Amino acid sequence: MISYTQLFASVCALASTAAALNPLEVSGKDFVDSKTQDRFQIIGVDYQPGGAAGFTKKLDPLSDADVCMRDAALMQRLGINTIRVYNLEPSLNHDECASIFNAAGIYMILDVSNPLAGGYLDRSAPWTTYSAIYYKQVFGVIEGFKNYDNVLGFFAGNEVINEDAHYLVPKYVRAIVRDMKDYIAKNSKRAIPVGYSAADIREILMDTAHYFECDLKNSTSSRSDFFGLNSYSWCGESSFKKSGFDVLTEDFTNATIPVFFSEYGCNEVQPRVFTEVQALYGEEMTQAFSGGLVYEWTQEDNDYGLVKVNDSNTVTTLVDYDNFEKQVNKLDMERITSSNVTQTSVKPEACSASLIKDKSFYNAWDLPEVPSKVADYIKNGLPDAPSGKFVSVSSTTIPQKVFDHTGKEITDVKFEVKSGVNTPSSSSGSGSSGTSDSSSSESSTNAGSPNGAPSLALGGAGGLFMLLASLL
Ligand SMILES: *[C@@H]1O[C@H](CO)[C@@H](O)[C@H](O)[C@H]1NC(C)=O
Ligand SMILES: *[C@@H]1O[C@H](CO)[C@@H](O)[C@H](O)[C@H]1NC(C)=O
Ligand SMILES: *[C@@H]1O[C@H](CO)[C@@H](O)[C@H](O)[C@H]1NC(C)=O
Ligand SMILES: *[C@@H]1O[C@H](CO)[C@@H](O)[C@H](O)[C@H]1NC(C)=O
Repeated sequence: MISYTQLFASVCALASTAAALNPLEVSGKDFVDSKTQDRFQIIGVDYQPGGAAGFTKKLDPLSDADVCMRDAALMQRLGINTIRVYNLEPSLNHDECASIFNAAGIYMILDVSNPLAGGYLDRSAPWTTYSAIYYKQVFGVIEGFKNYDNVLGFFAGNEVINEDAHYLVPKYVRAIVRDMKDYIAKNSKRAIPVGYSAADIREILMDTAHYFECDLKNSTSSRSDFFGLNSYSWCGESSFKKSGFDVLTEDFTNATIPVFFSEYGCNEVQPRVFTEVQALYGEEMTQAFSGGLVYEWTQEDNDYGLVKVNDSNTVTTLVDYDNFEKQVNKLDMERITSSNVTQTSVKPEACSASLIKDKSFYNAWDLPEVPSKVADYIKNGLPDAPSGKFVSVSSTTIPQKVFDHTGKEITDVKFEVKSGVNTPSSSSGSGSSGTSDSSSSESSTNAGSPNGAPSLALGGAGGLFMLLASLL
């Protein structure tokens, strides 16, 4: 029979892990949980309520706790384990939202740039913006978020390399990765991964990946830790071959860092049925990819939303929300989270011009020198930059009214403090691979990204004390 002391000890252990996700780390080509070493695959959604235009210096997607609580609760029902946030303002307080997503079992991947003046690298003349002004934004975001355990990583850039980019842009972006990693090594307790998010321009896609993932002897910190791809090539009831996912899988099978879709979910056929989910998390594709993030959470003018925010007190889950939920509920989470030494033991290739195939793609690694003021920030930390910390949050029913796409009210939407990562609610053991398809039409690619740029409901500490009280 189990003693009170044992029970007490196990309840306390539960209390200390509740509301704390284990940080993730990169191991070969996989993300793994730093404590359990389980593999982590992203079941994510891109998060920018209000769209890119909704961002201001006074309001970013992680600065309004009521909105974060509402959205975290609705994401928990869906099985989401990661959000990506594009535009952040370092001077705002993000403690409540970061704590809410952490307690919900949801990691965050954060872009360090924003579209305001001084907030981004100018792709037409990168040397003009590779400066201390830009680094106040970049290092400001790192300072603001470095203490949150649920930060999966930072994006050093989103689709900076495209048809309009100056040919020297790759080396500037690689220099930004270097500077961010040097800053993190010097000023953060944890080695938070840094990567790049690429447009799906197939002619230069592999060149871009090789350019960032190769090992540079004289600048090891400039190597990316992961690679994101914004891909919209699977539309409607497509297939592994027709969508070109087969080519992507083959291309990235030899990757030496984690690769994932930083945006996916073509909306040319509506409503979206998300049949690509079975391919993306199927046996074949998971040898190359670590999941992906659906574009995007809220319905905006470009028509990619999973939910519609009617007003600050009312939200509607759209038919795409239900369709996505059906797909993720079929996933075999045991297989998806099982570790595999073949995957984690891969070694990087050395940087060499022979890796770059397209004539127009820059093929040298003579990275720009770090500006002296930026070197000073790296050495001593960015002055006067606020750093966040977790605050306590408890399980609660959300105050907003939620309707489904038929207009019926959903009354039981609850934000739950979890003891670990959020998972789809009814994942079955029937793993299906999305590769059994014999059609052979040509792949369609779509480089244009619409962005351009088991629950533990203890009821928070109160519930825990009541539980303890009842045991004693
Ligand atoms: C991956 O590596 C294997 C073994 O080195 C090689 O045979 C294969 O051609 C590579 N695939 C690609 C797409 O580069
Ligand atoms: C482990 O990974 C390798 C390479 O990605 C793959 O070929 C193999 O099937 C995987 N093993 C298991 C048990 O999934
Ligand atoms: C909310 O917006 C959706 C989508 O536009 C619409 O179908 C629904 O009727 C709206 N609900 C309310 C309560 O306004
Ligand atoms: C580092 O190595 C690359 C590739 O060999 C070279 O182009 C670059 O000039 C070197 N940088 C320095 C500072 O030596």
